[in-house]
Amino acid sequence: MEKAKKDSAYRAGAKHITPETRVLGVGSGSTIVYLVHYLRENREKLHPDLVCIPTGFQSRQLLVENGFRVAELDEFPVIDVAIDGADEVDASLNVIKGGGAAHLREKVVASAAKDFIIIADYRKMSEQLGQQWKQGVPIEVIPFALSPVMARLKEMGGAPTLRMAQRKAGPVVTDNGNFVVDVDFGLIADPASLLARTKALAGVVEVGLFCSMARIAYFGMADGSVQIRE
Ligand code: 5RP
Repeated sequence: MEKAKKDSAYRAGAKHITPETRVLGVGSGSTIVYLVHYLRENREKLHPDLVCIPTGFQSRQLLVENGFRVAELDEFPVIDVAIDGADEVDASLNVIKGGGAAHLREKVVASAAKDFIIIADYRKMSEQLGQQWKQGVPIEVIPFALSPVMARLKEMGGAPTLRMAQRKAGPVVTDNGNFVVDVDFGLIADPASLLARTKALAGVVEVGLFCSMARIAYFGMADGSVQIRE
């Protein structure tokens, strides 16, 4: 599995991070760790003034530890290329993200990017969303709105669960101070419509459905190859 993650990260890094890439969006998760390894091992091929915009605390720490300059969107509102992991990617490049509760900032970074690239291992590949990722669609909600939003999600046919921290010490709290509700909608026939309906609920900050955003996805396969969807 680790090799598949590494293969996808290294292939995407080599293809999309060129000496012209000045501002790079760096996502979150375990696959992204290999993207930072790629950057570390290929410093001489990078823009001399490369600036990275991380999507959360984890990738920020990783980049800083490896000597890369990190900055905020205030300073660099346009990103040349953003690369991020995924929880599931369908045949049309609709993506579920938020397994690490970072999808709000991940979507902001992806939206600010001229080019958005997904890296993942083969477990994330599917024909239709809901086939592979059984945890449900992550939805970030302000704590004040939790109960009404859960009720509305049930009315919409979903099965919402408040995400709890390990050992059930309390709800997971995002980098933005909000809760995450994982909503099982079964197989998702129309991700864009589901995104629009869930995002419209008052108190929902962001939904972990990324539709019409990724241009290309790299999947590291069990046999050592890399499959590309675009
Ligand atoms: C975090 C995410 C991650 O990108 C996603 O969960 C994939 O993580 P990993 O590379 O560890 O499988 O969306 O919110």
